[in-house]
Amino acid sequence: MRSVPRGRLIVFEGGEASGKSTQAARLAAQLGAVLTREPGGTDTGKRIRELVLDPGAPAIAPATEALLMAADRAQHVAEVIEPALAAGTDVVTDRYVPSTLAYQGFGRGMDIDGLRRLSKDFADAVEPDLVVLLDVPASVAAERLRGRDRMEAAGDDFHARVAEGYRALAGAEPHRWVVVDGAGSVDEVAARVRDAVDAWLSSKG
Ligand code: TMP
Repeated sequence: MRSVPRGRLIVFEGGEASGKSTQAARLAAQLGAVLTREPGGTDTGKRIRELVLDPGAPAIAPATEALLMAADRAQHVAEVIEPALAAGTDVVTDRYVPSTLAYQGFGRGMDIDGLRRLSKDFADAVEPDLVVLLDVPASVAAERLRGRDRMEAAGDDFHARVAEGYRALAGAEPHRWVVVDGAGSVDEVAARVRDAVDAWLSSKG
């Protein structure tokens, strides 16, 4: 029996109102990939998402927040990501492990290596093939932001640490990350994303 080549895992990351959900959807449609998200990519995950993002929720300790994100990821990997990749289908996900490192690690100050292990060992998270970071100045993001969920309401210092965290993660793994300027119209950003992904695909031969 001939085995199919595994699909590729492409992750969109960025701060609040970076436009990544729109761009993830566009790229997934272009590639014929499965489009999914974290938290909330499964029915169980949707419940976790409600719990963790509800602005009216009681105070949630950083460790609880990290474990809820990990629980969402464990279900997501088992139910959506791994079966699709194993069947040879590409997956585009709106957020993944780097969100935990940026938000719970850099944002909340939790241990980065511990968070990495949590995702790898307990959620069985596979490494992404490519991470697209949409970089949007805080002023542009603030203009785009309408509703305010629990994370969005976390304060400017928190979001500045998250942004700094993303830059550090991208700088540490330049072979896996591309940073795309997220300012401008949806079409302008989509063209930049497509160029970056095409360049990455051609570098893979
Ligand atoms: P979004 O998917 O609508 O951007 O919102 C998800 C929110 O959850 C966002 O504020 C980032 C946050 N988040 C974490 O803090 N850690 C994680 O691991 C993930 C996946 C998301």
